[in-house]
Amino acid sequence: MSDRILVIEDEEIVRGLIVEVLEDAGFEVVAAERAEGGLEMLSRSPISLVVSDIVMPGLTGLDLLARVRATHPSLPVVLVTGAGTYGNLTQALANGASGIVVKPFSHADLVAAVRSALGRARAAENDLRDRIVTPTVAAALANAIEARDVATHGHCERLAELALRIAEELELSPDDCETVRLGAVLHDVGKIAIPDRILLKPGPLLPEERALIQTHPVVGDRLLEPLAPLEEVRAAVRHHHERWDGAGYPDRLEGEAIPRTARIISVADAIEAMSATRPYRGPLDPERIVAELETGRGTQWDPVPVDVALGLVHSGALAFPEGGLTLAAPPAAESNGAYSVLLVEDDADHAHLVAETIRRALDGAHVVHASHVAQAERLLADCSWSLAVLDHRLPDGNGLDLLRTVKSADPDVPVLVMTGEGSERLAVDAFRLGASDYVVKGENSMTELQARVRALLEAA
Ligand SMILES: [Fe+2]
Repeated sequence: MSDRILVIEDEEIVRGLIVEVLEDAGFEVVAAERAEGGLEMLSRSPISLVVSDIVMPGLTGLDLLARVRATHPSLPVVLVTGAGTYGNLTQALANGASGIVVKPFSHADLVAAVRSALGRARAAENDLRDRIVTPTVAAALANAIEARDVATHGHCERLAELALRIAEELELSPDDCETVRLGAVLHDVGKIAIPDRILLKPGPLLPEERALIQTHPVVGDRLLEPLAPLEEVRAAVRHHHERWDGAGYPDRLEGEAIPRTARIISVADAIEAMSATRPYRGPLDPERIVAELETGRGTQWDPVPVDVALGLVHSGALAFPEGGLTLAAPPAAESNGAYSVLLVEDDADHAHLVAETIRRALDGAHVVHASHVAQAERLLADCSWSLAVLDHRLPDGNGLDLLRTVKSADPDVPVLVMTGEGSERLAVDAFRLGASDYVVKGENSMTELQARVRALLEAA
């Protein structure tokens, strides 16, 4: 959006000239003949900067400056003055004018004064936001939300940590990451307006109570309205209950029409809620959380942040101990050269054993575990792998079919097949489909696995 400038000048020719120069410089310009009319316009529509003459009938430019300071303290005002009225200059600057242009002025002088005043105003606004307003307001509001309901203590903080991590994994810009973090902290701020008897009601809600609770995203959006620097955050707050399939609220937005920040917060919010203890239930099992995410992927939630979250679960970075979710720090830059191994195995205990063996064999390799063919296929589409270790029998498919998928995603990746039944036939089939090696699950299989994994990657 271009900056909108209000020009106040009583002389028609000069007014026309100023408007023309600023429009040529790319600004949107509105004009008034008198200060009174200018103040009226200011109260009606958003203005980024005022350019005003000083000597005018009625209110002077200096009177105008004083009034603008009182009503719009951060709005920059550039004054235009005739030569010989330097007495005005000192007073104007003392009263907070952002720039002075002396008549007769060149086009370049005027545009430079306007640009510089806008730049300083923006820098001051950002500074204020970064240092004082945003952290203070966000922290105060977050405390206010949590103070209402002890059961959700720590919810905002854990949710914000997870949402930020997803945003970072998706390589959002630093500004967007900050919007996600603040949006996560403030997402339920509108619940301040919901009465305790409904917000804290232990039993099921009546339809009218549910409808009232569902006003909280819009109330939150309105609560944050006076905080101009939080404009992007407001969108995240307003839309955190929209659904990817368009069946959410308040605006029934669908798919990518939902702000990306809100889509990320929505996934993180659900994961945090499922993994937290509530007075009426304990945390859900990690398997159940994964299953819920898989079910809602592409209907309730944007598949992209869901896959990031599933990747974090499978890699062990996101865990669900009692007391709420925990996030391990992202892998350090220097470990990027380490091997990444995709392990597909449905038996959780065996998977744990194999993952440990691989990590030992490959000196801290990054092992990502999938328990289903569907998960493995997504991981294959999203990342490249140094090695794939596949179980033969999987709940939703066959290890040999998955082997085909692995080889079509990357023909060069070595694949090791594991099976409980060491039939020759299976070994032949696996080799024919491009497997590099084969381990039979059994007494010494971990020692064998360790040696073979090492040999495979040395050969690769
Ligand atoms: Fe909410």
